[in-house]
Amino acid sequence: MIGIKFIARQLREPSGLFGRKVMARMLNKSNARINKLAVDFLAPQAEDQVLDIGFGGGTGLQDLLRCVNKGIVHGAEISVAMLRRARAQFAAELNSGRLKLHEAHVEALPFGPGVLNGICSVNTIYFWPSAQNGMREISRILAPGGAVVIGMRSADAMRDNPVTQYGFSFYTAEEVGDLMHQCGLIDIDILHLDKDARFDSLLVRGVQAS
Ligand SMILES: C[S@@+](CC[C@H](N)C(=O)[O-])C[C@H]1O[C@@H](n2cnc3c(N)ncnc32)[C@H](O)[C@@H]1O
Repeated sequence: MIGIKFIARQLREPSGLFGRKVMARMLNKSNARINKLAVDFLAPQAEDQVLDIGFGGGTGLQDLLRCVNKGIVHGAEISVAMLRRARAQFAAELNSGRLKLHEAHVEALPFGPGVLNGICSVNTIYFWPSAQNGMREISRILAPGGAVVIGMRSADAMRDNPVTQYGFSFYTAEEVGDLMHQCGLIDIDILHLDKDARFDSLLVRGVQAS
């Protein structure tokens, strides 16, 4: 019998056969729209180097690959199961060098300072041990003029869901914007979409000063 704690653990870090076969599909189905909106808000250019942090089942990677057809899309994940799945799903893009996957934590991303033009991370900030440390690391690797988009559901939408009792931290869009500001990002912009839907989408974008 699958319990709430098990699902909460799988959302935090999908693992094993369940992670690869079931959770990845569930994530792709329920998060396709918010990932697409996040990539639209990021608006990457064809030649950019971009990163999806915590790509899960890969719906955000797919969106980024569609836009960035002359540059490089990177994906960072702590989940070995999601990395394994993505290596099979995106074998052609990996072979051609258009996609690179990294086993990495948001607080230790394998990039030098200022190398990425765009970063997005959807439905992962709830699990970061320190949102401040994660944002600082994002700011470190973002190129001047580059942007980051953090996508999440509102606390109001998520609190009703019993899984969120287990290890989820919630932030308002303003709190995420403040964190970006503290980490040196500018032009903070917030979009609140699908307000009347069961799961709304909050997107917060910040830009690295030139
Ligand atoms: C709820 S899933 C969301 C997946 C995907 N972004 C989506 O929108 O469908 C959260 C993902 O973030 C990853 N994750 C959790 N904590 C992370 C961290 N500290 N650094 C990088 N990835 C992390 C998990 O392994 C998981 O695949």
